Amino acid sequence: MKILIAPSILSADFKKINEEIAQVEKHSDLIHVDIMDGKFVPPTTVDSDFVKSIKSNVPLDVHLMVQEPSDDYLKGFVDAGASTITVHVEACKDSKHQINFIKKHKVKACISLKPKTPVEDVLPYLDMVDMVLVMTVEPGWGGQKFMHDMMPKVEQLRRLKPKLNIEVDGGIDPTTASIAKKAGANVFVAGNAIFGKKNRTEAIKALQESVS
Ligand code: DX5
Ligand code: ZN
Repeated sequence: MKILIAPSILSADFKKINEEIAQVEKHSDLIHVDIMDGKFVPPTTVDSDFVKSIKSNVPLDVHLMVQEPSDDYLKGFVDAGASTITVHVEACKDSKHQINFIKKHKVKACISLKPKTPVEDVLPYLDMVDMVLVMTVEPGWGGQKFMHDMMPKVEQLRRLKPKLNIEVDGGIDPTTASIAKKAGANVFVAGNAIFGKKNRTEAIKALQESVS
């Protein structure tokens, strides 16, 4: 599987976001953008206008921690230039609707599951999506500790879907990325481990080396 590194801008300085992204984009495969609605998760972050303001050639990986995203809401991120849109299986009455809407607009669709959600809950969607996102922390905040006990879920998904992109998000650093890679993950989101460091290029290289 192709390895992809996705810096999460949640840990970056939003006030100068394009400068922050400029520091990482040369070595990034995706830019991960966390959208929180204050309902599905307590915090609120940025919206589609913010995503639209991002100037980068790196594909945008938009992670919606949003309760029941409507067609109009999703369209906002399509129009803002998202390359992938992730919805949470726990947030949607029937995720098929959101996945189909995203795909109809030629954007890649991803389904995510929170730590307490079993793999069984995403099984009905695995043939429809381009990627599955296994949360390795409770969604909502950066800088939390990686949950090792999520690795059996990654292993189970990899056994079921040898060719599906499996993304991990939360507490990813060179040590935990290597553990997640061994379990079967191939897409690595990292916020603090990149934007928390002075030298972002070094930080990304360390991550890349740990999973190569
Ligand atoms: C958490 C977000 C993550 C977050 C990861 O809910 O989905 O993308 O930015 O941050 P770190 O890498 O610091 O755990
Ligand atoms: Zn995220």
